[in-house]
Amino acid sequence: MSDGDVAIDSAKDDNSDATSGGVNTGRRYFLIQATSAVAAVGAVGAAWPFVKYWTPSAKARAAGAPVKIDFSKLVPGEMLSPIVAWRGKPIFVVSRDKQTIESLKSDTAELADPDSLNPEQQPEYAVNAWRSAKPEVGVYLGICTHLGCSPKYVTTDNFEASGQGGFFCPCHGSKFDLAGRVVKGVPAPDNLEVPPYRFESDTVLVIGEEGAA
Ligand code: FES
Repeated sequence: MSDGDVAIDSAKDDNSDATSGGVNTGRRYFLIQATSAVAAVGAVGAAWPFVKYWTPSAKARAAGAPVKIDFSKLVPGEMLSPIVAWRGKPIFVVSRDKQTIESLKSDTAELADPDSLNPEQQPEYAVNAWRSAKPEVGVYLGICTHLGCSPKYVTTDNFEASGQGGFFCPCHGSKFDLAGRVVKGVPAPDNLEVPPYRFESDTVLVIGEEGAA
């Protein structure tokens, strides 16, 4: 027996003497009520598949949600560890000292795209020698642009002439400088990607959002 049957049967018992001209008005009232309720449930039931289809699940929202990174303990010359992921991809956050900041402006002879001419690889605020919103903090997706390995952070000798460090991909030997710019003649075709980000404070980044610091 369904819920609707119960409601109608109860209505008949409770209103057994509310009869007028041979018509049980109580029963008729409750039948109308029950029919309306079933119609309302049917309407919601019909709408739900579409609501469900258009509403992203909590898991999907979390997968694409912005990620906050506190890098207050990061010192110049190091990369933040443990590495935080955003949308399942590692985010490299590096702190650069003054010497590195200067060298990124001048040590460009070995680079394939020193001026970040490929607009797919960074937001506009990262089109500069550091490929970052602030020269002292670099933020990059830790995914090699060749076949997707995760490069290693090396503090020195990624470049023979300058002795500068950078990122080295052990899979097929691609090299990137400390701004994520790829070296000429390696398998990787592009600079490391810069994700969208903003500074929530001097020491907290929000990855996946853009805007004023
Ligand atoms: S995946 Fe990095 S060099 Fe091939």
